[in-house]
Amino acid sequence: MLEPKKFDSIKELSGISERTMTEHYKLYEGYVKKVNEIEEKLKSVDLSQANQSYSDFRELKLEYSFAVGGVKNHEHYFEILGGNGGMPSGKLLELIERDFGSYQQWLDDFTATGISARGWAWLAYDWQTNKLFNYLGDSQNSYPVWHCTPLISLDTYEHAYYLDFATNRKEYIGAFMNNLNWQAVEEIVVKTGIDKL
Ligand SMILES: [Fe+2]
Repeated sequence: MLEPKKFDSIKELSGISERTMTEHYKLYEGYVKKVNEIEEKLKSVDLSQANQSYSDFRELKLEYSFAVGGVKNHEHYFEILGGNGGMPSGKLLELIERDFGSYQQWLDDFTATGISARGWAWLAYDWQTNKLFNYLGDSQNSYPVWHCTPLISLDTYEHAYYLDFATNRKEYIGAFMNNLNWQAVEEIVVKTGIDKL
């Protein structure tokens, strides 16, 4: 049984209101609940009726990826907030400069990715190409790429910013960057061994 995690990192952000984060956390709890519900239903679903046009099994599997995506994306998004923005350092900065030309070029690409996405923008490391790339997602379960490790997850659903920024998503992305905890991002780089490459 999955339990929602608690995040001190989403309290008292600068420019993103407490109400936005309280409501956002409720959505995350909803995804956790749905993961548990679908896992329960999968235990008793009739496998003999599996069908690609429509079947209970297909619908459960499909929505499971949406719910699990909702949990993982939000946990990562919440975990890396609560910082003071600024710049990355060490190996991460080195990789960003290698793969994007400069920090500013990475930021321009990441911001444009966030503006173009209908759900998520991720900075991720691809273990097969050994490169960083800013990926775009239109929902909780699109479009993950195998063998990639997300380093930054940016929620671009309207619920993430509309209360504070209305339609000005670019300003929201700026506020997200101002609250980004680069140390938390760099911890992922160390934990996964990307810093040893
Ligand atoms: Fe969200």
